Amino acid sequence: MTQIDKNKPVLVTGATGFVAGWIVKRLLEEGITVHAAVRDPKKTAKIAHLEELAKNSKGSIKYFKSDLLSPGSYKEAMEGCELVYHTASPFTIDVNDPVKDLIEPAEQGTANVLNTAKEVSSVKRVVVTSSCAAIYSDAIDTVNAPGGKITEDVWNTTASVEYQPYSYSKTLAEKKAWEIAETQSQWDLVTINPSLVLGPPLNPQAVTSESFNLLRQLGDGTLKAGAPKMGIGMVDVRDVAEAHYRAGFNPEAKGRHITSAHNTNLFEIGNTLGKKFGDEYPLPKRALPKWLVMLVGPMTNKSFTRKMIRNNVNIPFTADNSKIKRELGMEFKPMSETLNDSFKVMIEEGMFNAKE
Ligand SMILES: NC(=O)c1ccc[n+]([C@@H]2O[C@H](COP(=O)([O-])OP(=O)(O)OC[C@H]3O[C@@H](n4cnc5c(N)ncnc54)[C@H](OP(=O)(O)O)[C@@H]3O)[C@@H](O)[C@H]2O)c1
Repeated sequence: MTQIDKNKPVLVTGATGFVAGWIVKRLLEEGITVHAAVRDPKKTAKIAHLEELAKNSKGSIKYFKSDLLSPGSYKEAMEGCELVYHTASPFTIDVNDPVKDLIEPAEQGTANVLNTAKEVSSVKRVVVTSSCAAIYSDAIDTVNAPGGKITEDVWNTTASVEYQPYSYSKTLAEKKAWEIAETQSQWDLVTINPSLVLGPPLNPQAVTSESFNLLRQLGDGTLKAGAPKMGIGMVDVRDVAEAHYRAGFNPEAKGRHITSAHNTNLFEIGNTLGKKFGDEYPLPKRALPKWLVMLVGPMTNKSFTRKMIRNNVNIPFTADNSKIKRELGMEFKPMSETLNDSFKVMIEEGMFNAKE
């Protein structure tokens, strides 16, 4: 049982991020003082949306300069905090050097933040933003999981530096988090493991999250000939923020939490958007057959390898989200609401290059 005092500041690492922005908003609405750890507090374009949120809420925000690869750089931001949200980690698929660009910041960064938590006596709970990527790489892994669905008991055993390196980075980072948690008894560790997070961005002009690349491809005509039925999970960013909030403040929260609202696929996502935006935007109207994706996929995107296509296209993704519903009382937004709200903001903000 861990009681968190809402009068104490709460640290959010990577506060500039897509997911973190909504966590910060939720905390500010509660009147909490947020310690926002960011790489460069002087980059005003990256924090303008957070400033605006703080201005219009009961809570307040203080910025701290921290970097995942700089040991000790989260200490000042953590002082006095009982609750730490560690969200910072690169989320991008297209990298030149997976070790330097993904794995080192994810794993060493987690070690950096959690080892600092061992030195700061105020800390009582650490909530790490892990991912379903720490549980599985490909939809076929969910089919092969016990009972044909992933649960919190499953770990990703198929990712590597060469294959699905982002998933590998999240697996190593979460393992490191549990390893460090076991070396101490001052704080408890809770993880939130979202599937693909979609929803409206709070900082549309400065997004870095891979989440928007999929929606961009749906809106800019890349997938106008059709989309594959590639099994994935999906969840709304506002629900992910609520899940973090509950994981932080529910005294009994413990362990990992699959935070995935819908078992879906890429074609279904495009088709759902098509109902509202299909007359104006080149959304996919048909599901691409697997043989065709095998033929052209590898030419369009370097992460779209034959192995990846074989293990995901026409393979259902199935995750069991019953733990977070039962233990944290979570309910999830309908898929159409998440998709339509995301698309609307992206249109308003001119985030699609070519409208056809
Ligand atoms: N979006 C999803 O679908 C999804 C799904 C599951 C889990 N997650 C997890 O959610 C978290 C946030 O992802 P997101 O989608 O919100 O992506 P995002 O908007 O790109 O946020 C990533 C954050 O990490 C920070 N960061 C990256 N490298 C850093 C470094 N070396 N030092 C300090 N900070 C660094 C970024 O800071 P800068 O702004 O300075 O670059 C940014 O604040 C990540 O842990 C990700 O793995 C995301």
